[in-house]
Amino acid sequence: MSQPGAKPVAIITGAASGIGLAVTQHLLSKNYRVVLADVNAKQGELVAGSLGPDARFIHTDVSSYASQATLFSTAFAWHGRLDVAALNAGIDDRQSLYEMQEELDADGIPKPLNLKTIDVNLNAVIQGLWLFKYYARKNEKPGGKVVITSSAAGLYAMTTNPQYTASKYGLIGLTRASGPVFVKEYITVNCICPAFLATNLCPKQLLDKFPKEHITPMSTVLKAFDTFLGDDKMTGQSVELSLGKLYFRQQPEWANESQRWLGEDSDGFWEEAYESVPVRDGV
Ligand SMILES: NC(=O)c1ccc[n+]([C@@H]2O[C@H](COP(=O)([O-])OP(=O)(O)OC[C@H]3O[C@@H](n4cnc5c(N)ncnc54)[C@H](O)[C@@H]3O)[C@@H](O)[C@H]2O)c1
Repeated sequence: MSQPGAKPVAIITGAASGIGLAVTQHLLSKNYRVVLADVNAKQGELVAGSLGPDARFIHTDVSSYASQATLFSTAFAWHGRLDVAALNAGIDDRQSLYEMQEELDADGIPKPLNLKTIDVNLNAVIQGLWLFKYYARKNEKPGGKVVITSSAAGLYAMTTNPQYTASKYGLIGLTRASGPVFVKEYITVNCICPAFLATNLCPKQLLDKFPKEHITPMSTVLKAFDTFLGDDKMTGQSVELSLGKLYFRQQPEWANESQRWLGEDSDGFWEEAYESVPVRDGV
């Protein structure tokens, strides 16, 4: 699926720090051109400026569709190709679901919970995948690879961060549902589910106290990227990353034959149903 000639181009969101920055450096060392996207303009410019001519920064807020669309169109126009997207930008919960002192509106009803976490971690990734497939189809040799950053919180649960957990579960569902479909047009979609890594996601005071034996090294993340980017067929996979190891996680076993039929054999039924009922129109 790799494109003929020249260097492959990758977009990395959340590239100014942590996992995104490490993946950026890794891909540059493997002869990629990398577009670093981040909402933190100062840090992004600073970092990209130190990485040489194959790196460029595009100030992007992934939670804005217009901003992400500009990122993708500019990245594709750079060298007329787009090979990889690491949809990685993420934040933790911005407001606690468990809050005791909810702010009330004029009618005495709680104001809506701040769901920025879902906008950044989940909705923006779906839009990123939507944009990636548009440009991947325009490649001289159509196709490409998407690696999504979910989390171990998407496999288990992080009770302190329920919206974060929901978003990361959503990404695994997105990967499992779309990966096997997109691979038919040479686009693979996989996700990483890291355990705890020492990045700027964690407040500095907590990081200093965090037990070292529970910190997963960045090299495990890079190993997972190498696995996904080195394989043209692997798709729909979620890999848990803990300490030095990769654990591929499958969906639960079918409860019974009926569930297996619904999950594996009912595609034709749904396709026919969607063709006859215009459910995708309007609301
Ligand atoms: N660090 C961990 O322990 C850990 C574990 C599992 C999953 N993750 C996931 O890894 C991903 C990367 O996080 P990290 O640990 O490297 O943290 P980080 O805070 O070091 O990096 C995240 C980057 O995303 C950027 N960002 C935030 N909102 C953005 C937006 N709206 N648009 C564009 N960029 C935005 C930030 O500016 C930052 O540079 C996240 O999705 C996170 O949920 C991290």
